[in-house]
Amino acid sequence: TFTRCFIKDNRYMLLLDGIGVTIRVSLVAVLIGIAIGLLIALCNLSSNKLLKLIGGIYTDVIRGTPSVTQLMIIYFVIFASVNLSKWIIAAIAFGINSGAYVSEIIRAGILSVDKGQTEAGRSLGLSASQTMTRIVIPQAVKNIFPALCNEFIVLIKETAIVGYVGLMDIQKAGDFIKSATFEAFMPLIGTAIIYYVLIKILTLVLNRVESRLRASEVR
Ligand code: ARG
Repeated sequence: TFTRCFIKDNRYMLLLDGIGVTIRVSLVAVLIGIAIGLLIALCNLSSNKLLKLIGGIYTDVIRGTPSVTQLMIIYFVIFASVNLSKWIIAAIAFGINSGAYVSEIIRAGILSVDKGQTEAGRSLGLSASQTMTRIVIPQAVKNIFPALCNEFIVLIKETAIVGYVGLMDIQKAGDFIKSATFEAFMPLIGTAIIYYVLIKILTLVLNRVESRLRASEVR
């Protein structure tokens, strides 16, 4: 890709490749983030002291350090000798980062379901985990979804730092074209427009899904 961009007409190819990288990294990251977030949320909500401690430390450390620093540590230290694609390592890093935020979203969503729902489930003879998976979580999902969509958008923009580990995403492609052409305006404004359109499309799709979720609400 690096040699490709010196061929003038292939600048657009560079950006196109960049869009692919951004989409791949954020898509995989959001999935990893949801998986980790769910686990950490359950740790935080559990009555087990050790699990609570683990969940607490995770959220604390991830939220207390910049995502660029985490990305670079994961890439250059933890995965230094692991033979994995760059973008997958980046996706793991962003997933780990996102997990901390998602865990808080899920925790808040679960706590937002009235306690009476749990009491009703328990008094009907359901076990604690049955009550959680069949009564509480289905109701929590509607509260969690909008915040999760927001997290996805944050994540897409957050991946603009992958250039730090040598990945050519939208941002890096724009920056590269800027350096190669000594022209700042078009490449950087173009970069902004690409992100904007990408996120606009995603927002429109997710809003649709959300209104479907609301429509199925029986209240
Ligand atoms: N840029 C911030 C940081 O460096 C935000 C982290 C990502 N936020 C998120 N909701 N996933 O920590």
